[in-house]
Amino acid sequence: MEQKTCRIGCIGLSGRGSSMMDLLLTVPGVIVPAVCDLVPERVEKGLDIVKKRNNGEYEVKGYSDYREMLYNEELDAVFVATTWITHIPIAIDAMRAGCHVGLEVGGAASVEECYKLIRTSEETDRFCMLLENCCYDRKELAAFNMAKQGLFGEIVHLEGGYRHDLRDEIILGRENIHGRLKNFMHRNGELYPTHEIGPIAKLIGINRGNRFVSLVSMSSKSRGLNEWIKNNKGEDYDLYGYNWSCGDVTTTIIKCANGETVTLNHDCCCPRPYSREYTVQGTKGIFKEAPDDSNAVVYLEGISKEPHKWEDFNEVYRDKYDHPLWKESDTVNCTAGHGGMDYLILAAFAESVQLGAEPPIDVYDTATWMAITALSEQSVAMGGAVVSFPDFTDGRWIDRKPPRRGKFCLEEICGEFFDN
Ligand SMILES: NC(=O)c1ccc[n+]([C@@H]2O[C@H](COP(=O)([O-])OP(=O)(O)OC[C@H]3O[C@@H](n4cnc5c(N)ncnc54)[C@H](O)[C@@H]3O)[C@@H](O)[C@H]2O)c1
Repeated sequence: MEQKTCRIGCIGLSGRGSSMMDLLLTVPGVIVPAVCDLVPERVEKGLDIVKKRNNGEYEVKGYSDYREMLYNEELDAVFVATTWITHIPIAIDAMRAGCHVGLEVGGAASVEECYKLIRTSEETDRFCMLLENCCYDRKELAAFNMAKQGLFGEIVHLEGGYRHDLRDEIILGRENIHGRLKNFMHRNGELYPTHEIGPIAKLIGINRGNRFVSLVSMSSKSRGLNEWIKNNKGEDYDLYGYNWSCGDVTTTIIKCANGETVTLNHDCCCPRPYSREYTVQGTKGIFKEAPDDSNAVVYLEGISKEPHKWEDFNEVYRDKYDHPLWKESDTVNCTAGHGGMDYLILAAFAESVQLGAEPPIDVYDTATWMAITALSEQSVAMGGAVVSFPDFTDGRWIDRKPPRRGKFCLEEICGEFFDN
């Protein structure tokens, strides 16, 4: 199919924004005519990235003020990879300027801003898609496929975590102009829920026949950051002994309208290897990612060879249950960007912009997943009290019109779009 050209401006060009923009420029039909960051060197680097990819075929302009960029440029969409608390205000301004939005991941600062995001999208008829790459991870999509084929029976419980030792990235935020620092200084809760809640919410039909009803959240004490400072910067470093708001490990439990429970862990301040440990458990079996995320274990009653014994996912199940997106050779061979899932989320975003059509992660999903942060902060502040979860669909979750079918659909697998 011939790709329609789409013009996407990029806002936020630090580590993530610049690497994602470089990948976005490889998606057929995508043009990046404008880039923006508050830091001049990052704008220059961004311009270089575009010029290397576009072979001089079109002009690219650099901006420090994204509003000026929105005003001057004729863009179909923007890709936003700025700091967490700026995501929603920028997305709102961009939709008001007529652009669709692809938003890098992060949590919301308040429930109010989630409502504003939704109302703006409804009023402007522009979409806002959270670019939650983990929704397209190979294992998460295979687990989705297995769940849809009924292998786990009725789903009762799911788990996931963002377990990532980010101590240096957090603490050196001023030296490296990086956005996490002030969040860990001043906020306490599940600050980064979407890598795990995205695939979970899609698997259990959140906002489409199911919804989050309430949550509770508790945070541990905060010790890891000061320990790191002591060992790496010394006790004279001005932040040593700082009374960090964010607990080292935050645990959140969400209850769903259809009865499932979901556990999330935010764990970024102690030494540990990266891990999400995505888990899906039902009446007939269980899927559990390995702690190093390279593989998973599965147990299916009556199917697994031996009772009460885990089986190796890659060896026994992967070939059979890979999502068709992961059977396509260009996906399998694309190692750029977290093993390929970054390319898939960008291709899904670009396809929706090119078609001017509903994205696979819509503004209701975006608001729901991001709101967990603001709700978790409330619960932690009240000693783990139950907080009710807003219904951002205003009741439509019980009777939504079916999602747009397509290759990148995350509600079901649309086999008619694949040759394999
Ligand atoms: N999906 C993933 O796997 C993944 C991985 C890494 C980071 N991220 C997300 O990507 C985003 C960016 O991450 P990062 O590590 O590059 O963060 P960062 O803090 O290093 O960079 C943010 C950039 O945004 C710029 N910025 C802030 N406000 C701005 C404004 N008003 N106008 C223009 N530019 C502005 C800053 O100058 C900075 O260069 C974050 O939301 C992060 O959570 C996602």
